[in-house]
Amino acid sequence: MINIIVQPLGINVPINEGETLHDGLERSGISIETPCGGTGVCGGCRVWAQDPSKIPPTLHSDISTREEAEGLRLACMAVPIDDTTILLEENYVYAHGECSDGQILSGKREDEKERELHPVDLPAVRVATLSEASGTEENSENTAEVFQMYHDRSPKPIDLHLWKASYTPKGVAIDIGTTTMVTSLVNLETGKILASESCLNPQVIHGHDVLSRIQYASTLEGLSEMASLVQNKLNELIDNLCSNSGSSTKEIVDITIGANTTMLQLAASIDPSPLGHLPFDVDIKSSCNYPADRFGLHVNPQAQVYIPPVMHAFVGSDITAGLLLCPEFFDDTKSVLYLDMGTNGEICLNVKGNRLTTSTAAGPAFEGMGLSSGMRAKDGAVQKVILDGSSMIFHVIGHKEPKGICGSGIVDFVAALLGAGFINPSGRLAAINNRNDSTRSQFGLSNSQQGASNNQFGASNSQFGASNSQSGASNRQSGESNSKLGVSNRQYGSSNNQSEALNNQSEAPNNKNYSFELLQFKGDKKPHETIVCNRETPSPVSELDGQPVFYFGKKAHLSQKDIRQIQLAKGAVRTGIDLMLETAGISCRDLDCIYIAGGFGYHLSPVNMEKIGLLPEHAAEKVIFCGNASIDGSLQLLRNGSKRIFIEGALKNMEHLQLADSPRFMEMFVTNLNFPNMDQPS
Ligand code: FES
Repeated sequence: MINIIVQPLGINVPINEGETLHDGLERSGISIETPCGGTGVCGGCRVWAQDPSKIPPTLHSDISTREEAEGLRLACMAVPIDDTTILLEENYVYAHGECSDGQILSGKREDEKERELHPVDLPAVRVATLSEASGTEENSENTAEVFQMYHDRSPKPIDLHLWKASYTPKGVAIDIGTTTMVTSLVNLETGKILASESCLNPQVIHGHDVLSRIQYASTLEGLSEMASLVQNKLNELIDNLCSNSGSSTKEIVDITIGANTTMLQLAASIDPSPLGHLPFDVDIKSSCNYPADRFGLHVNPQAQVYIPPVMHAFVGSDITAGLLLCPEFFDDTKSVLYLDMGTNGEICLNVKGNRLTTSTAAGPAFEGMGLSSGMRAKDGAVQKVILDGSSMIFHVIGHKEPKGICGSGIVDFVAALLGAGFINPSGRLAAINNRNDSTRSQFGLSNSQQGASNNQFGASNSQFGASNSQSGASNRQSGESNSKLGVSNRQYGSSNNQSEALNNQSEAPNNKNYSFELLQFKGDKKPHETIVCNRETPSPVSELDGQPVFYFGKKAHLSQKDIRQIQLAKGAVRTGIDLMLETAGISCRDLDCIYIAGGFGYHLSPVNMEKIGLLPEHAAEKVIFCGNASIDGSLQLLRNGSKRIFIEGALKNMEHLQLADSPRFMEMFVTNLNFPNMDQPS
């Protein structure tokens, strides 16, 4: 056994001989993000060894010789050989402590005020004294007041033993996502949101997807651990909500939960394994209440948890809650599509009163996971890419060099690469020079400009052609870059870019053909900064490990393999949409609107979703984003008891479409793997 002291947590973690740091830390509840799935490709799981001799180097193009000597290692590949201390970067979550990660994982939601969405109607729960309830003034000064909870699902009032006259009935809306958890505390008398808190779902230490979690929970010990992880974290969030709003946990008498079925069952300590195989049985009961104790929640002992209707094993109460944000979905004169984009793509369709739902395994690509430089939406993540004439503009969160790309950025980036001719409809990535004239012209390169553009990309031509003469080529390139950067400097008013760009080139990873120039960090308004790659730069398409890759930063890149992952994800979602529309006998043109939910929903570009074929033609103008609809829908259910009755009735006749049963599924899926051909007029 090897002992590793982990900083900044200050804890000792025993690692088995021959075990990787990643695996050993994970056993102890420390989950380091592994964007490439721990295959040693992305370089995203960095840790620092205090004594580098105790952990042999992990070779990677992103680790310079100096960094290696200073102790930089990749946790997914590093196998310690002796006791030492390591320092974690900001890329981990500790299940038994605070979330370390940035803005989406902890703290108050920024849009809290905007989420005062609907006025309070009549909450499902109210608290009154016996005398108040009976409308009498009989309570004598000598008689202690008896408080009772009136619940719309309970035939009799329930005595509240721990209630004080100074208390106000409060409720908590909860969204348990596979990746993040969000909670909001509400005053049930006024409907006012008092506080909100969110964090990473601590179960991520046992896998990023529901199937890994189901597998881990297949033993009694595993199930108990998974339940405790989420219950403890929810109690921590509830404690924070109360202390931030001056409330007592005993004032919490009502709770609503939006979650997928696996998260629901794990939170209630119910074995989720039937969800992982045919006939996909759901064991948690929905459209009903549970005592809060069932979810291990430390609130008022009489508090109830309401679970909205679950439509199918793969369409949980998070989708039901989310639909409440879409009034047209329940309008029998309208045709409406609802799409929740996450690891699973859940799709619901209302065609004039006929309602249908399905789900499709999209994988984590659109959440920025599983890609070479995929990451969550935090500092250093590209969250938006614009193809502006002959320039490709990258918006990066925070004042940092781009470290990777998050979900919304990926959709934009692929659309820009398609538009610029860097990838073709089959998804093949290549240097623009290798494209035909029609795609070149899309990037603003007319045939008459071809000669000029050949000069502009001449440096990269020589690089692609002659790797052995790299230094000579680089020297020539440096000379050319000087004049090009002169133009850029004038254009963007940056004085130090030239040397910075040359430095960047010399610090390039061991990829011999690396040729991207970081022209500038444009002084955009906080929190975004912008880098620009345009025709003045050599082609950023290069080669890494025998595969074409597109560099959008010194190290961040999108590889051919990443594009294949994106094709699989968008092919799955699009096939689900197409089959739903076909089954209902309508086309996208017939839809009145398309609601898109999901944590990153507000940042997606509908036009680019259509450009990459994620949405059908004519969809973009119909899109309405509703963000994290699960938490907002759960809030509605908390503040309006009548919504519970409404949603249970409205979804009674919802049918489920099993995509895999359709004989057209595979044919459609294969077609939808391709990107739309931008050469063809729509
Ligand atoms: S290199 Fe370790 S997770 Fe990607």
